[in-house]
Amino acid sequence: MTADRLPMTVPAPGLPTRVRIHEVGARDGLQNEKGIVPTEVKAEFVRRLAEAGLTTIEATSFVHPKWVPQLADAEQLFPLVRDLPVALPVLVPNERGLDRALALGARRVAVFASATESFAKANLNRTVDQALAGFEPVVARAKEAGLHVRGYLSMCFGDPWEGAVPVHQVVRVCTALRDMGCDELSLGDTIGVATPGQVRALLTALDEAGVPTDVTGVHFHDTYGQALANTLAALQHGVRTVDASAGGLGGCPYAKSATGNLATEDLVWMLHGLGIDTGVDLGRLVATSVWIAGHLGRPSPSRTVRALTHQEQ
Ligand code: HMG
Ligand code: MG
Repeated sequence: MTADRLPMTVPAPGLPTRVRIHEVGARDGLQNEKGIVPTEVKAEFVRRLAEAGLTTIEATSFVHPKWVPQLADAEQLFPLVRDLPVALPVLVPNERGLDRALALGARRVAVFASATESFAKANLNRTVDQALAGFEPVVARAKEAGLHVRGYLSMCFGDPWEGAVPVHQVVRVCTALRDMGCDELSLGDTIGVATPGQVRALLTALDEAGVPTDVTGVHFHDTYGQALANTLAALQHGVRTVDASAGGLGGCPYAKSATGNLATEDLVWMLHGLGIDTGVDLGRLVATSVWIAGHLGRPSPSRTVRALTHQEQ
């Protein structure tokens, strides 16, 4: 990539000097593919993401293979990547998932809760409170085993069945995840409907409820093209961890109208333009997204990938 294909760096006030990108392409991205991606291709994807400088790469999910057949090869995949010198969180929905992850030596796990009853039912076959009760022993056992635990919270800004989601519902579940011992939280805009004022309002409400911003990451899907604006609002509030997926892959098989995540390349373009360090080599990352797009049989939806590779719109 030539120098004119890098953003001009002009810092803006009130922003961090470094952001940790939590890369979810191999999990959130590939869980939503119609076809099953071969295990060796997934492993190569994770390796290439690590070589591009990503330091936290969500590798797979130990969920029920019938619920997410795309990730049914977690047992085969994880050993192929576990020795990479990066953090490799995996999703676990329950103790059975945790047992599977522990048996393979996973060091980081993520539980995933919902702010709404409809999504808790669709995604976990539980009520919100049943799901939280089920996570208690998962988090307790994971912490006892010395693991880092992330607590995802979906539908923080809107729900396809219930519409607007009251902030107090989100704050309640975040507080519960934090109280049970989650080291970090990730606020999910599962269907990509949030706008920046909403992001600020939720982060402020969490501050007031005693959930610190420095343990809170953001997870924006880009359905309405708001993910970058929402990310900037979160950074201005003090958030330092941003989830994104290489090439903008992603979605959730159990949420109507969920499309891809914020594309990691689009995020990196903005962060580097603001002079914020990510450790990511944008050229290598774009090459990785083009490579996986070849395997998936369609071009990357990321605007930055398209711009840097002159792909047809
Ligand atoms: P269930 O059918 O209620 O399960 O599903 P159950 O507890 O009744 O158990 C039924 C059978 O499944 C039992 O086997 C269990 O052992 C087995 P049987 O005794 O009948 O032979 N089982 C399992 N097998 C393997 N691994 C497991 C497991 N658990 C039970 N972990 C369950 C409940 C939670 C398992 C199911 O609903 C599930 O797997 N859901 C996962 C859905 C999912 O992965 N969604 C996508 C990730 S979330 C997301 O994308 C959002 C996010 O990106 C943030 C955002 O964008 O908002 C994170
Ligand atoms: Mg997601």
